[in-house]
Amino acid sequence: MVDLLSYLPWAASPLIMNAPMGGFANGALAGSVTVAGGLGFIGSIMNMTDLAVNLRIASDIIKDAPGIQQTPDDTLQVGVGLLPFVANLTQAVPVIAEYKPAVVWLFAAHELADFGEWATELRAASPASKIWVQVGNVKTALYVAETAEPDALCLQGNDAGGHGFEQSAGIISLVPETRDALDRAGFANMTIVASGGITDGRGVASALALGAQGAVLGTRFLASKEITIHPINQAAIIEAQDGGVTTVKSKVFDELAGPNIWPEVYDGRSLAVQSYVDWQNGVPIEEIRERYAEAVAGPDRGFALGLRGRAAIWAGSGVGLVKEVENAADIVKSVRREARRVLHRTAQKYLDC
Ligand SMILES: Cc1cc2nc3c(=O)[nH]c(=O)nc-3n(C[C@H](O)[C@H](O)[C@H](O)COP(=O)(O)O)c2cc1C
Repeated sequence: MVDLLSYLPWAASPLIMNAPMGGFANGALAGSVTVAGGLGFIGSIMNMTDLAVNLRIASDIIKDAPGIQQTPDDTLQVGVGLLPFVANLTQAVPVIAEYKPAVVWLFAAHELADFGEWATELRAASPASKIWVQVGNVKTALYVAETAEPDALCLQGNDAGGHGFEQSAGIISLVPETRDALDRAGFANMTIVASGGITDGRGVASALALGAQGAVLGTRFLASKEITIHPINQAAIIEAQDGGVTTVKSKVFDELAGPNIWPEVYDGRSLAVQSYVDWQNGVPIEEIRERYAEAVAGPDRGFALGLRGRAAIWAGSGVGLVKEVENAADIVKSVRREARRVLHRTAQKYLDC
């Protein structure tokens, strides 16, 4: 199996990554995560000009930081997230060709078969960039491994904040079951990383024990200083406790601004805000949309504390472990330190070494 650090040579072990959260994970965040020895990702939605601006920002941060090792193929030491179901491949290709990110991460296509076409075109644009695809169940992992031949799969557990597969399992079973299935199907060399509910060093240590080569954290980085986020959205993340109660996976969050445009297989995990409560109480979707439209036009853009808002506040079920807003670099370093400590302590305790 390819060691991830062979093409991410500046990174420290264990590998910590911020998720490529479209509209949230910007160039400053990605640059800071990389400089701290992680792999920083920039998220994108439709606007490839914005993506290029953020790649430039990340590139400048990395250039100015001393001692960030070059990659063997001189790729830029960050990753980029693309959403094939809304992004335009023809517009994405020149940006990837120009900046040559170390990793291009794909998630959410109209058809799972689309990942193959995207992978081929992106590889032609930047042969040294590695292609990763995020999936949420064993069946999809096998299909994508066969059809798109990615360099790695990110296995997204159903604790994940934001969008994910409606049919999915937590990483505790998803990662080892997928590993076994990949091995049996002839993909023993397929690298896997894990996401979904991983919020601190204990979560990272668990992901590694399950067989992942690195951990992707989304919700934790929503409480970073660099992230692009409305202050009330961020305060609600800090406030929320007990994510099994205060977050919920539902498709209704994608119906608020109008009919859901996400491919059928996805839903999203958000704080259980008022729009969700209304829907649970049988309020017609048209009325929920009206209340939402009125709220998002206001100064707080539909965000509120105490689950009283109407806009989705995407968050994973690990949200209760997010306690304060910190520099992204401090998050990377403290999570990595804690993961190492936990692994060491656990080995000492249970292996008597
Ligand atoms: C606010 C938010 C936005 C997200 N946007 C994207 C995205 O644009 N593309 C993507 O591949 N995943 C996206 N995700 C999902 C992440 O890739 C990842 O699976 C998730 O954050 C991991 O779970 P965690 O939030 O519990 O750490 C998003 C997640 C959040 C919380």
